[in-house]
Amino acid sequence: MSQTIESILHETRLFPPGAEFAAKARVSGMAAYDALVARAQADHSGFWTDMARENLSWRVAPTIGLNDSNAPFFKWFEDGKINVSYNCLDRHLTTQPDKLALIFEADDGTVTTATYRQLYHRVCAFANALKAQGIEAGDRVLIYMPMSIEAVVSMQACARVGAIHSVVFAGFSAKSIHERVVDAGARMIITADGQYRGGREIPLKKAVDEALAMGSCDCIEKVIVYRRTGNEVAWDPARDLWWHEAVAGLPQDCPPTWVGGEHPLFILYTSGSTGKPKGVQHSTAGYLLGAVMSMQWVFDIKPDDVFWCTADVGWVTGHSYVAYGPLAMGATEVIFEGIPTFPDAGRFWRVIEKHRVSIFYTAPTAIRSLIKIGPDEPAKHDLSCLRLLGTVGEPINPEAWMWYHNVVGQGRCPIVDTWWQTETGAHMIAPLPGAIPTKPGSCTLPLPGIDAAIVDETGTEVERGKGGFLVIRKPWPSMLRTLWGDPDRFKRSYYPDDFQGRYYLAGDGANRDLDGYFWIMGRIDDVMNVAGHRLGSTEIESALVANPLVAEAAVVSRPDDVTGEAVCAFVVLKCPRPASHADAKKLADDLREWVAKEIGAIAKPKDFRFGDNLPKTRSGKIMRRLLRSIAKGEVITQDITTLENPAILEQLNEAAY
Ligand code: WT7
Repeated sequence: MSQTIESILHETRLFPPGAEFAAKARVSGMAAYDALVARAQADHSGFWTDMARENLSWRVAPTIGLNDSNAPFFKWFEDGKINVSYNCLDRHLTTQPDKLALIFEADDGTVTTATYRQLYHRVCAFANALKAQGIEAGDRVLIYMPMSIEAVVSMQACARVGAIHSVVFAGFSAKSIHERVVDAGARMIITADGQYRGGREIPLKKAVDEALAMGSCDCIEKVIVYRRTGNEVAWDPARDLWWHEAVAGLPQDCPPTWVGGEHPLFILYTSGSTGKPKGVQHSTAGYLLGAVMSMQWVFDIKPDDVFWCTADVGWVTGHSYVAYGPLAMGATEVIFEGIPTFPDAGRFWRVIEKHRVSIFYTAPTAIRSLIKIGPDEPAKHDLSCLRLLGTVGEPINPEAWMWYHNVVGQGRCPIVDTWWQTETGAHMIAPLPGAIPTKPGSCTLPLPGIDAAIVDETGTEVERGKGGFLVIRKPWPSMLRTLWGDPDRFKRSYYPDDFQGRYYLAGDGANRDLDGYFWIMGRIDDVMNVAGHRLGSTEIESALVANPLVAEAAVVSRPDDVTGEAVCAFVVLKCPRPASHADAKKLADDLREWVAKEIGAIAKPKDFRFGDNLPKTRSGKIMRRLLRSIAKGEVITQDITTLENPAILEQLNEAAY
């Protein structure tokens, strides 16, 4: 950790907002930012309540801001009555019914659109279909959909009737669907026959069928299937229903179901440091407020912007900045089915040029892969439409930041590096682009009303320039409310006794420089960040051990040029180690496929190493720091006196497959 601190503190480049950008920005100049921060400091609950009353449309406006009587189970705006879908659709119908809400670009380049009025009618019709199938407020609905207008419609329709959605990324396996159906007790699944990515067709309904065949899924009554590819799917007429048949003949208006401010809007599963994913539960009003304020403060969203967030709706970024935030702001947004490298490395830039995108938000891993395969591609396109760029998911290395700034933004566009998490619901630490000068690699300063700090293991704030644990000291509206069905784990994970349960522990290590800027250094637990997505090492280990050939497994990460971190697995087999390189390679490939089936392709280990044992202490603890060194290809110079079986290191070091 200390080396990272050293290197970031040498980054001295500073990029103040351009005069023209700042002049038009919603929050213009440092004094305006400081004033918002001061207002929130003076009255935290009152500040957020003012924001909530001014920026959301309520059926009944709240009189209560924060309720902390049952900490850490905080509540916000609990006596307000509201509906998220009403805020995203109905409130724009009188002001801008014919404005484009969604511009959908499919994998093959086909474009379809929906205006606010059209989207409203599609959401209403589908909400009526949900009701017709017996879905009521509080029911859980699992969504396993490709990026599509229908994915957004599904989420909005759930919100409209007060159902709690649980979106499962369509790259996840049948096993993952099964686990989430059972954990949430879902009544319905919304899926598609398949999807297209990079010219390939991927079946989706098949994974749902497999998941439901795994047992204990009696809670599921219906599976609604959107026809995307038109290819044949297995069909259970008692359970399965085509989307187009489900909505046929239903009214295109559907009054919103008003819910309390604290009503759960969704559950989204994310990796933790144990094998079982955590069902992060978000609220209605506080969550929406986080999305709406960050759209204004960080994205500086204006009526004539075309906004494009490349994230899939399967991740929190696709919830806050595809399905909800932009629509609540009445913006026009692009949604994209494909991948950045298909049909070639110019795809992103072509989409930006074609739809005149003005705000572009993507992940450092995508930027790095495009630098690698098509560094000159942006120059071939007219990107003069861009005015603001954003990144999310992991620290962006300063070289990638500079390329993004110079080559994509042509030196003109501020970059907002946004730190946040599935649990935080919305941006937490990020520049307000018309106010805060940026530094390559830093997410800069906390948003107004966000009390971020860096503390040591006793919870004491550390001096500027020193590293520590990133915490949030005061509750904020868009924070998770609990982990679905597991309040104890919520407390243990985020409000641990170490800090007397006072602070939200983000699980990231960070550092603050002398200007107060935050530099995120990565996870402090056994969670890895691969291509901007969180993967629990225990989760992958459990998947490996479930393979009949595997006796024991340990998973760590190593740095990777493109994905940030890569997964490395150390495996002890029940049978002798593979005799030849060819055997080892074959086994590694089989285990990779196994992990893809158990969790999803993103969790596939890049490297496999086989040993007769793992390096352990005399008390039997796996020495992960040694595995990390081997994974990086480092010579082990560390103290190995506590190691029970030193000979094992050589064996594990032999070759990676
Ligand atoms: C973890 C959260 C938030 C949406 C995407 C990921 C890392 C996120 C940044 C950033 C450095 C970042 C952290 C965080 N992270 N954004 N701008 N700079 N690190 O959501 O899967 O919940 O992961 O991603 O480690 O804890 P997530």
